Amino acid sequence: MRTVQTIADVRSTCDEWRRAGAVVGLVPTMGAFHAGHRSLMEIAREECDRVVVSLFVNPTQFAPNEDLAAYPRDREGDEAVAASACADLLFAPDVAEIYPEPGRTTVHVEGLTARLCGADRPTHFDGVTSVVTKLFMITGPCRAYFGRKDAQQLAVVRRMTSDLNLPVEVIGCPLVREPDGVAMSSRNVYLGEEGRAAAGALFRSLCVGADAVEAGLRDAAALRSVIAAELSGDPLIGVEYVEAVDPATLEPRTDLDGATLIAVAARVGPARLIDNTTIEVVGASVTADLGVVADGDMYVPVARVAP
Ligand code: PAJ
Repeated sequence: MRTVQTIADVRSTCDEWRRAGAVVGLVPTMGAFHAGHRSLMEIAREECDRVVVSLFVNPTQFAPNEDLAAYPRDREGDEAVAASACADLLFAPDVAEIYPEPGRTTVHVEGLTARLCGADRPTHFDGVTSVVTKLFMITGPCRAYFGRKDAQQLAVVRRMTSDLNLPVEVIGCPLVREPDGVAMSSRNVYLGEEGRAAAGALFRSLCVGADAVEAGLRDAAALRSVIAAELSGDPLIGVEYVEAVDPATLEPRTDLDGATLIAVAARVGPARLIDNTTIEVVGASVTADLGVVADGDMYVPVARVAP
């Protein structure tokens, strides 16, 4: 695997690959790799001829009061992970390479970005969509890989790609969890020992929600209450939202027929954590996608935990 830092270098390599007929896959990241990032690289490796991983802590998606300065960085460790996942190229530009001057152009996706995390982070998704557009234009991928951990980000990027006819297939990949169910996140390093234990409440609350739907609950407001009650049981947790929305439009649901994205966000000490499940109801049949855990070289569906 090679690491390059300039747009000219990554572009010329990707151009050459495409000219040779290769399917190029892009995995956009902000680094501090964990098994969730690695799983995206592995899926891209299986599906594409060439895999580019971008590593760029994008300042424009952090508000002034957020954790840009503290965001974990580990360039050497990240290089080792990307190489072991058999990526071909790591694109690790510095801020001046991506933003030689403050940009005057923003890609904004209306509506979807105002809900869920957008309510508390009104500028966040503009930063994400603008940098993802730049990364798409710089690398020219055929396919781009995003985790369902960030379900709203995935919905927003999908909508942007479709609205702008970007010639990229956006692939959503399973949410990877720690063995105890906590969703893997670069921000989990902010959790102390107590916070780490308390963070289990997010996954537990989603399990309680999935159990309730399996037991026959079909009202979205009642489901949100069940989940919020479980989540707010721990004094270390400050619930930000519990929502039940359409997975593509992020519009609130009232009933639970078809697919519903159940998304939660909570503060646990200094960390702001998010988690989600998608529940599919067809008649009496209920399936809940709660994500996966690593089992040796494989990923298997996560086991639910009891309240
Ligand atoms: P980052 O938080 O580094 O995440 C990079 C990718 O890894 C995203 O697609 C995210 O959904 C995925 N990911 C993170 N944790 C995961 C988990 N536990 N399971 C599965 N996938 C997981 O998301 C960003 O960076 C940025 O916003 C970015 C898209 C790179 C734009 O700057």
